[in-house]
Amino acid sequence: MYQRLLEHLTTAVLLLDGTLRVRWLNPSAEALLAVSLGRVQGSRLECLEGVDGEVAEVLTKARVEFHPFTQREALLRLASGDNITVDFTVTPLSDDELLLEIEPRDRLLRISREEALIARQETIKVLSRGLAHEVKNPLGGIRGAAQLLERDLPDPQLTEFTRIIVEEADRLRDLVDRMLGPNQPERHAPLNIHKVLERVRTLLIAEHPHVEVVRDYDPSLPEPVGDEAQLIQAVLNVARNALEAMEENDIPEPRLTLRTRAKRQFTLGAERHRLVCEVAIIDNGPGIPEHLRETLFYPMVSGRAEGSGLGLSIAQSILHLHQGLIECDSAPGRTEFRLLMPLEAVS
Ligand SMILES: Nc1ncnc2c1ncn2[C@@H]1O[C@H](COP(=O)(O)OP(=O)(O)O)[C@@H](O)[C@H]1O
Ligand SMILES: [Mg+2]
Repeated sequence: MYQRLLEHLTTAVLLLDGTLRVRWLNPSAEALLAVSLGRVQGSRLECLEGVDGEVAEVLTKARVEFHPFTQREALLRLASGDNITVDFTVTPLSDDELLLEIEPRDRLLRISREEALIARQETIKVLSRGLAHEVKNPLGGIRGAAQLLERDLPDPQLTEFTRIIVEEADRLRDLVDRMLGPNQPERHAPLNIHKVLERVRTLLIAEHPHVEVVRDYDPSLPEPVGDEAQLIQAVLNVARNALEAMEENDIPEPRLTLRTRAKRQFTLGAERHRLVCEVAIIDNGPGIPEHLRETLFYPMVSGRAEGSGLGLSIAQSILHLHQGLIECDSAPGRTEFRLLMPLEAVS
C-alpha cells in the first residue's frame, strides 16, 4: 500500500544512499527530473548536484549532521539543459539512507499565472466579440444604403463619395472580422508541425533576407491534431513581430530561432497533460516594451504606430482553439514566445 501511495504522490520523492546514489524514486520524480528509475538506479544524478554543487552540499550536510534540511528556490539543471526552480526537503532515515522530497516552484508559479491569464483573456474576448457584433450589424445597412444611393445620384461625380462609404464600411468589416479571430478550428487533422514551421520559415526569409533563421527541431515529436492553416497564421504572427522589432531597432546580427520540444507531464491552465508540443520562437531583439507586458495578448495593444495590435490576440485565440496557450518571457536581447498544445487526441 505504501508503494502505491508513493507512486501516486504529485510530490517528487527520492531515496538516496549515503553516497547520494539513487535507490528509488517515484513517477513524479521521474517526470520532474526527466529520468527513469531503470536508468538511474544505483547511480548519482547529476542534476542533484544543483548549480555550483549547492544542492549536493545540503544533502551531504544532512547526512553528516543527521538532521533534516529544507531549502527554498534551489536551482537544478536537468540533463536537457533546462533549469528548474524547486523547494526541497532532505531527511536522513539512517546512516546511509536519505529521503528527498522535491516540490517544483516554477510550475506552481506558472499555473496560477496562467489561470489568471486565461480568465482575463476570456473576459476580453467576450467584450470584444460583443462590441464587434454591434459594429458589424449596422455596417451592412450603411453599405447597402450607399449602394442604393449611388444608383440614383443625379451627378455621376458624386459617386466618389458613395464609393468611399462602401470602401470604408468594408475596411471596418475586415477589421472587425480579424478582431473576432477564428471561431473554431476549420479542420482537425494530424499535422506535421515541422512542415508548419518550414512554411513560416520560407515566408520569413523571403520578407527579411538578412535575418538568420535557426532551426532546432525535435524530430521525434509526435504529430499534433489541429488546423494547419491556423497554426501557420499563429506562428507567423509571433515570428513577424520578432523580425519587425529587430528591424526597427537595427539589431546588428538579427537571429530568430524556431525550436520544437515534447514536454512530459505538463500543466496547461488547470489541466495536466501527459505530453505537450512546444514550439518556441526566440529572437535576440530589444524585448517587449515594459508598458505592454501585462496587456500584450489583448486586441488593439500595439507598440508600433502603424500596428493593429491584433497579431498576438489572434495567435492566442488560435492556440486556445487547440486547447493550448502562448506564453512569453522577454528581456532586452532575448524574447521567447512558447506555443503550447496538448499532444493527446483532442476530444
Ligand atoms: N518579439 C518581440 N520583440 C519586441 N516586441 C514585441 C515582440 N513581439 C511583440 N512585441 C510587441 O507587442 C506588440 C503587439 O504585437 P501584435 O499583437 O502582433 O500587434 P502589432 O504587431 O500589430 O503591433 C508589438 O507592437 C510589439 O511592440
Ligand atoms: Mg504583429
